[in-house]
Amino acid sequence: MNTEAFTSTLKHQSTVEKNGIKISKEIAEKTVWDELAVENPTHAVISAKNEEDAAIKSAEQISDIKQFLKPGDILLDCGTGYGRVAKYLLPQMALGGYVGVDSSYQMLSLFKKRYDTVESEKRTPLLLLNADIHTLPIQDSSVNVAIICAVFLHNHKSIVDKAMLEIERVIKPGGRVLVYSSFPRSATLMGVQGCAYQILLNLLGRPYKNGPVRYYRRKEILKLFKGFDEIELRPVGYSVIPKTLIFLPGLLEAIWRKVIANPLNKILEYITPAQLKPYFAVHYDVVAKK
Ligand SMILES: C[S@@+](CC[C@H](N)C(=O)[O-])C[C@H]1O[C@@H](n2cnc3c(N)ncnc32)[C@H](O)[C@@H]1O
Repeated sequence: MNTEAFTSTLKHQSTVEKNGIKISKEIAEKTVWDELAVENPTHAVISAKNEEDAAIKSAEQISDIKQFLKPGDILLDCGTGYGRVAKYLLPQMALGGYVGVDSSYQMLSLFKKRYDTVESEKRTPLLLLNADIHTLPIQDSSVNVAIICAVFLHNHKSIVDKAMLEIERVIKPGGRVLVYSSFPRSATLMGVQGCAYQILLNLLGRPYKNGPVRYYRRKEILKLFKGFDEIELRPVGYSVIPKTLIFLPGLLEAIWRKVIANPLNKILEYITPAQLKPYFAVHYDVVAKK
C-alpha cells in the first residue's frame, strides 16, 4: 500500500505505523499496557521479578483488602491489569462477585486465561470489562468495595476527578473505597521533578499522555474524596533522594538509582526518627467509606 500521497493530510508526528496501518499516538499511548501485558506483566504491574516476587510484594495489600470484605460481597477492581489482586485474594476468600475493569484488552485476556483454569478463583463469579475507569458501564450502588491499585498515578488528573465520581456512584452506601500506590506525594524531590515533567508535557501539547507519574498534595487528595466519610490517608514508604532522574538516559539512570539513590535513602531512613518518617513518605494510600 502506498501511503506517500496522504503524508500531507496527517498532522506532523501524530501517528505511529504498525503493519501498514497508522495509529494515532493518542491511541498508541493508551495501549502501552497492551504491549506490557505481552512483554512482562508482573514487572509492569508491580515491578516484580517473577510470580513468586509478586506474591511476596502483594501479601500485605491482600490482607489489608480482606479485612474490608465479607463473603458474598461484590468487589470492583479498577484498572485490574492481569488480575494480580484476584489471583492472591480469591483463593483465600470466595466473594459474591469480582468485577475487573481495564482499558487494556491484553491484560484482561491474561486475567481470563488464568481464571478459567484455577478452581479456587472460579468459586467467585467474574465480570471483566474492557473500559475506562472514568466511564464505568456499571449500575449505581452495585458494589460493596472498590479497589484501585497503581492506576491513578499514570492518568491525567482530570481523568482521576471523573473516575472518583464514577467510583462513588457505583459503591453502595456504607461501602468502601481502597486506593493503593496511586497518590505519590508532590512534597518530595521526585514530586518536584514530576511536576516539572507535566509542565513540559503541557507545553508540548500532550497533557493527557498515559504513563508519566502524577503527584498529589494532601489537600488535592482530600478534595477527591469529598463525597466520602471516615477518610484515612496513610503515608507509605520513605524517600529523600529521587530514585529516578527522568532526564537521564537509561544506563546512567540505573547507575544513579543503584549506586547513589537507593543506598543513600537506606542510610537516611535508618537515621530518621520514627515520628518524622511520615514527612518523607513516597505516597499516600487511602481508605474511605461512602
Ligand atoms: C500498574 S498496572 C496495575 C494493575 C493492578 N491494579 C495491580 O495492582 O496489579 C495499571 C493498570 O491500569 C490500567 N489503566 C490505566 N489507566 C486506566 C484507565 N484510565 N482506565 C482503565 N484502566 C486503566 C492499565 O491498563 C493497567 O492494566
